Amino acid sequence: MRIGPYTIDPPLILAPMAGVTDKPFRQLCKQLGAGLAVSEMTTSDPRFWKTDKSLRRMDHDGEPAPVSVQIAGTEPQQLADAARYNVDHGAQIIDINMGCPAKKVCNAWAGSALMRDEGLVARIVEAVVKAVDVPVTLKIRTGWDADHRNAPVIARIAQDAGIAALAVHGRTRDQQYTGFAEYDTIAAIKAALTIPVFANGDVDSPRKAAQVLRQTGADAVLVGRAAQGRPWIFREIAHYLATGEELPPPSIGEVRDILLGHLQALHAFYGAPQGVRIARKHLGWYAKDRPENAAFRAVVNRAATSDEQLRLTADYFDALEAGVPSGFAAAA
Ligand SMILES: Cc1cc2nc3c(=O)[nH]c(=O)nc-3n(C[C@H](O)[C@H](O)[C@H](O)COP(=O)(O)O)c2cc1C
Repeated sequence: MRIGPYTIDPPLILAPMAGVTDKPFRQLCKQLGAGLAVSEMTTSDPRFWKTDKSLRRMDHDGEPAPVSVQIAGTEPQQLADAARYNVDHGAQIIDINMGCPAKKVCNAWAGSALMRDEGLVARIVEAVVKAVDVPVTLKIRTGWDADHRNAPVIARIAQDAGIAALAVHGRTRDQQYTGFAEYDTIAAIKAALTIPVFANGDVDSPRKAAQVLRQTGADAVLVGRAAQGRPWIFREIAHYLATGEELPPPSIGEVRDILLGHLQALHAFYGAPQGVRIARKHLGWYAKDRPENAAFRAVVNRAATSDEQLRLTADYFDALEAGVPSGFAAAA
């Protein structure tokens, strides 16, 4: 599967998630099998480009190609300028956010709210495609609400404007994250377009990925929430798609090593104390499916420094591997 000059192999994409898909997490997911990892959304408003947050979101140093950067905004010219700016700062693919339902974004008439104004959608995609030489992708939902499922219309507008690939989350904006993603609209869009179409929503296992690809005919799937605390899901899906067999889950030792590497990358990227705080969020996700969850969280949440966070995490997993987690938790 290709986006412009880039081959995306395997056809598995880390979905953009603000507060989650920072550079350390994108790099980790790519190492563990994602064919592409989309950045957190970056604002198109130039007044905020020099904030610490934006500078980090626009930092792609050392990131493996292709680097896909998502932009969010409402003004065609501003989005076009933001696209150019991000390309100058390392973006190799520009992704336009018309899928995020967040109030902060939608109140400003950005994200999925844009889908209510098809004329504006056309002006935005045309302006951004014209502004840059790199491929431009678009991420949308199925519509605004159950009575306004206009994703097929938006999809056609996008293709006509030169969008290189389209990602569709199978929910309307007013569903937020409730209910289940529906894939029939994605299948209809895929059947009507010639550009690559990516299916998104509720892909949380290798079997589900295979089913969604089959049902929609999509060229790739985006995985969002299921990758939180489980970045190896990409290699699990890739293996299943290639062989029809499921990989065994990673061993405790491997999870420990992945996690420690992730913590170190977060500490280096954000510095102290922010790196330690952000790492806690990821530790919670890594722990969420473990029965020892509460003990683990209690231990690592106490860590105030990066060294302590690494040591407590390593000790915890070593104890878990040795089969004495509760003794460790009591002693820690
Ligand atoms: C914490 C969080 C942050 C998100 N941020 C963005 C974002 O910045 N841009 C965007 O287009 N979608 C964003 N999304 C939506 C995801 O990209 C994805 O469409 C959605 O989570 C459905 O996929 P999933 O069921 O695999 O999680 C976000 C979702 C979550 C849970």
